[in-house]
Amino acid sequence: MITQKSLQNIESWFENHVQKFRSSDKGYTQNIELKKDHTFRVCEEITRLGKSLDLSMNDLRLAKTIALLHDVGRFEQYDRYRTFADYKSEDHAQLGIKVINQENVLKGIDPSTKRVIICAISYHNRAHLPINESERCLFFAKLLRDADKLDILYVVTEYYQNSVQHSNQSLELELPDTPHISDEVYQKLISGKIVSSQHVQSLNDFKLLQMAWVYDVNFLITYRLIKERKYLEKIRDSFPKSERVKKAFAKVQSYLDSKA
Ligand SMILES: [Fe+2]
Repeated sequence: MITQKSLQNIESWFENHVQKFRSSDKGYTQNIELKKDHTFRVCEEITRLGKSLDLSMNDLRLAKTIALLHDVGRFEQYDRYRTFADYKSEDHAQLGIKVINQENVLKGIDPSTKRVIICAISYHNRAHLPINESERCLFFAKLLRDADKLDILYVVTEYYQNSVQHSNQSLELELPDTPHISDEVYQKLISGKIVSSQHVQSLNDFKLLQMAWVYDVNFLITYRLIKERKYLEKIRDSFPKSERVKKAFAKVQSYLDSKA
């Protein structure tokens, strides 16, 4: 169980924690702020999803706690490695769990609730969810993954629309912006499968990976929000026009339509 008081304590811990990451470097501060703002929006998204699923007040607080802590490793990651690319640094979910444990962020919370929090965070950036976990853990992991994707789609689509003026290499995971689309990435998307990050070689591949997230959505409301906010169209419009992009878009769009 998560009381209002324990949620407030975790919120103030989070604020204090982020405050520690300061620098006179503008780019550094911008990336720290980016993850902080992302975190707050994921808290809003997860609450929106949770309410639409009629979760209890306790479970809404639990969902918010999970969202608030899910990317805590990002600050440490950026500070140490100056990148958000896990493959160039380390797994930011595991790094976050280390921080949570070291700083005893979950003190006073009962062990079974703690397990759910740690479990949801540790699986939030995996390609696939494990099967040998409790139903409650998997439920919150799914909720977090949907809320996280909704906000990443918001961030990247805003970014793609404005990146000509304000490019940020960290958001592009330092990938080359070449016209190239990898066969492997394209084939996966066309066959209705999620794209694994190890096949991503260019920014275009990364955009296709984000489009293919529609195959990895867990709740009806999430499909509806993706559709309503026109995220797929916005990603498509950020590509140079090509036959492959047209086909890829048609594929994910028709999948979304069949679900939403
Ligand atoms: Fe996130």
